[in-house]
Amino acid sequence: MTGNIKNLAVLGSTGSIGVSTLAVAKELRGVRIFGLSGHAKLERLMEQVKEHSPQVAVCTSQSTPTSEGPSRIGEFGSDWNGRILWGSEGLVELATAPEVDIVVAAIVGQAGLESTLAATQAGKRVALANKEALVIAGDLVTKAAKDSGAELVPIDSEHSAIWQAAASGRREEIRRVILTASGGPFRNFDQQQLAAVTVSQALAHPIWDMGPKITVDSATMLNKTLEMIEAKWLFGLSPEQIEVVIHPQSIVHSMVEFVDGSVMAQLSPPDMKLPIQYALTYPARMPGPAPKMNWDSLFRLEFIPPNPLQRAALALGRQVCEVGGTSGAVLNAANEVAVQAFMDGKLSFLEIVPSCREILEQHQTIPNPTYEQLLAADCWARQEMNQWILA
Ligand SMILES: NC(=O)c1ccc[n+]([C@@H]2O[C@H](COP(=O)([O-])OP(=O)(O)OC[C@H]3O[C@@H](n4cnc5c(N)ncnc54)[C@H](OP(=O)(O)O)[C@@H]3O)[C@@H](O)[C@H]2O)c1
Repeated sequence: MTGNIKNLAVLGSTGSIGVSTLAVAKELRGVRIFGLSGHAKLERLMEQVKEHSPQVAVCTSQSTPTSEGPSRIGEFGSDWNGRILWGSEGLVELATAPEVDIVVAAIVGQAGLESTLAATQAGKRVALANKEALVIAGDLVTKAAKDSGAELVPIDSEHSAIWQAAASGRREEIRRVILTASGGPFRNFDQQQLAAVTVSQALAHPIWDMGPKITVDSATMLNKTLEMIEAKWLFGLSPEQIEVVIHPQSIVHSMVEFVDGSVMAQLSPPDMKLPIQYALTYPARMPGPAPKMNWDSLFRLEFIPPNPLQRAALALGRQVCEVGGTSGAVLNAANEVAVQAFMDGKLSFLEIVPSCREILEQHQTIPNPTYEQLLAADCWARQEMNQWILA
């Protein structure tokens, strides 16, 4: 660490988690923004640079400066003395910079894998929002953390809750974890209603305000499926130790059940600032901007077993947890393409989960894959899904 001040690199600072991270960092003592990265939202990146004066800003949408877009970053003004880096090389340079203490991995999807792995190999504290990195390459990322001494700490609220609740016992005393799921906007929809779901309905999450991909994933339940795989790698759990329960209020963020039957839960209003802050300040707890619970009015907490449709999506997570190898890369890539196709009006909502299942079934899993084999599996699944959509 750089003295008592921790230097943060926020990869994906222009997204939902990135913006919340900057809001938390602004209020916290002891953290400084060293670097930021943005992809398509360059105006927002420019505003963030003006506000936080980082030493590095990375534009990932281009690998070199051009007269379009990023050159305008020169318009930050003469009082900004930082450096601009480009493309995935620039992202890795920021993620591994010696000055950086904590890397907030907040890029969405497979695009975040290389920088997350690089930060892990460089021995950083990696505050992980980019769950897809663990879904694709959980074995490589967790082995890299072991080798380098990197701390992989969760930002996902469910995994942050498990992390916090698990602290009240020993690892070998955990019987199982219970991931809570809001159930998304279509929790009570029947098959007929689901068949008619529109993109704007899927993007209107009843509780969480998140980026578009995770919002659609929440509606299909594939977000929880990805989180099951994330939990396996973060906490070293077997597939039978990971349960899911629907909890529409999203106040209990997840639970840990110990061998004696005691269940520990973590509660807070549904807002990502708290898990982000804990990932930055751990093991300390500090006052911060996250909203606090209001105990002055009546509220109810419900816990509902997943219905058959939800179970069908969750079964893919169990399958990937059991099979391992390249299966996570395939599920993730198929889902990324399917979600984009749904948002582009090329695939119906109800086709997302079955198409992912079919591609996963067609895949010949490679056990203990290399990084290159994982990328090849990702590429194969994207092609298969594109063909599925065209068929
Ligand atoms: N949002 C939440 O509440 C939440 C909760 C738990 C976990 N997560 C996880 O956190 C991650 C980020 O989610 P989000 O909701 O913040 O997503 P988001 O709002 O869509 O933001 C994604 C970030 O990634 C950047 N990005 C997109 N494509 C990229 C590419 N090809 N190369 C480099 N950067 C790229 C975006 O840049 P531009 O915006 O400039 O294009 C943006 O900064 C996801 O893995 C998600 O599952 C999110």
